[in-house]
Amino acid sequence: MARVLITSALPYINGIKHLGNLVGSMLPADVHARFLRQRGDDVLYICATDEHGTPAELAAHEAGLEVAEYCRIQYQAQADIGRRFGLSFDHFGRSSSPQNIELTQHFCRKLDEHGFIDERTSQQVYAIDDGRYLPDRYIVGTCPHCKYEQARGDQCENCTRQLDPQDLLDARSAITGSTNLEVRETRHLFLRLDSLQDRLSAWIGQHQDWPLLVTSIAKKWLKEGLRERSITRDLAWGVPVDRPGFENKVFYVWFDAPIAYIAATKEWSDLDPQNRDWRSWWYAADDVRYVEFMAKDNVPFHTINFPSTLIGSGEPWKLVDYVKGFNWLTFYGGKFSTSQRRGVFMDKALEEFPADYWRYWLIANAPESNDSSFTFSSFSQMVNADLADNLGNFVSRCLKLTQSRFSAAVPEGGTPDLPEQDLAAALDTKIAAYTEHLSAMQYRRAIDELRAIWTLGNNYIAHSQPWTVVKTDPDRAACILRTCINLVRLYAVLAWPIIPETAGRILACLGVDHAQPEWPSLPAAEELTALAPGHAFEVPPTLFQKIADEKVAELIERYGGEE
Ligand code: MF3
Ligand code: ZN
Repeated sequence: MARVLITSALPYINGIKHLGNLVGSMLPADVHARFLRQRGDDVLYICATDEHGTPAELAAHEAGLEVAEYCRIQYQAQADIGRRFGLSFDHFGRSSSPQNIELTQHFCRKLDEHGFIDERTSQQVYAIDDGRYLPDRYIVGTCPHCKYEQARGDQCENCTRQLDPQDLLDARSAITGSTNLEVRETRHLFLRLDSLQDRLSAWIGQHQDWPLLVTSIAKKWLKEGLRERSITRDLAWGVPVDRPGFENKVFYVWFDAPIAYIAATKEWSDLDPQNRDWRSWWYAADDVRYVEFMAKDNVPFHTINFPSTLIGSGEPWKLVDYVKGFNWLTFYGGKFSTSQRRGVFMDKALEEFPADYWRYWLIANAPESNDSSFTFSSFSQMVNADLADNLGNFVSRCLKLTQSRFSAAVPEGGTPDLPEQDLAAALDTKIAAYTEHLSAMQYRRAIDELRAIWTLGNNYIAHSQPWTVVKTDPDRAACILRTCINLVRLYAVLAWPIIPETAGRILACLGVDHAQPEWPSLPAAEELTALAPGHAFEVPPTLFQKIADEKVAELIERYGGEE
């Protein structure tokens, strides 16, 4: 039994996330966690809200709330929507927790002890008309490298280079647009990434198995040469810096946020200290495999900055073993945007369709090797063809036919013959491939196999025609339908990581474990005899409703997509 620690990039606290956020982090991490649990691994899936930084401050201000109160409300909302999407976090914590404050300060102290912290005066942009210091990302301008005009003071989204605000051409305040900016002197702490460059390079070099998307970003950074980065800010909201002379400053959100992976694990542990040991997952945890899920803009922080914090502490903290990075999901080819409310957000999504419809489409179209584009017509086509026709119809057809020709129990009679052997052989190959793709976190390929596995069942029943055979050879029909009902069970078990609610519903109708069904480990021929003659079942109500063209038109109207 392997111990696997899974984290997904922490969603910002400023509002409900959109489908692009979901598919780039939490959803695939959940699929991985569910799959490994089914295989019997000891999984710990940790996530939390990322609550510090200026976006939280500004959103709270806009909502007319104290930041802490705003965060408390938004945390509840995100925890709730995560539950409704079936995200099976072992713990969903908060980066503003006391545990994170303590650990963040601890890491800074340790880094300082090892000589990786410099204190020096730096220049900070002060917006005279706004009456405040502007955090790097609230200064926008033209990227000096690629000339992208909307580059932020911390990073250019277009070429992914990290920037300093002073690098920007034509800088202005992103809050008010004011160009009345001045640079003021202020003292800050700097993390000596430059001194950690060699150790980081060596560590990255050990991970040739990571997706190219991830290693290419990390290597590009290393090649450019790491520079020291400031890890404190002149803000009121954040983790306080426990150091004389830093009374009005907090840590930079990107310093404390990844530490919150550890802190949220400690939150989990602190809820039941007798039975949970956060350190065993993070500290000298050589028996743990640690996997991170994130979108590509997060890759530098997880392959350079956060590992630097951990390595530089001089303590044996767990470093990530595998980074699964994603490209962008677009909304009709353009950006999903939280600030412009463009695209479909998790709360609205569930008002339209059940979570499994979304989970399935998103995983089937995960932006792995390329960006992928969400459109309502692609969504409806896939839901209709794969879920309603391929899976849903098969399930109800088999169960209804059995109920009407025999009874609501697995029928007795006949023995498996050539068609059943062929079916089992095809299943063995495809289930092995599906399992391999899920292990490798290759989600598009995994869904291609799952779809093909469902098609095998439809081809089998179409060829063997139990509805005709039953008139002349009831034993043979019994054998066919028995095989089909067992296929239904197998389908639900295999689909459980992707569409857990529906899979659980099917398994419940079959009267078998539906909380966390074990991954199939036997040859298909044996898996197809798991439900023995006489085993009672219920026919579930329609599993998936087809999405009509009128509904698609209505959705496009409502959400502003364009064909
Ligand atoms: N909130 C960040 C984002 O959405 C991700 C933070 S991941 C963490 O891009 F590790 F830093 F927490
Ligand atoms: Zn650029």
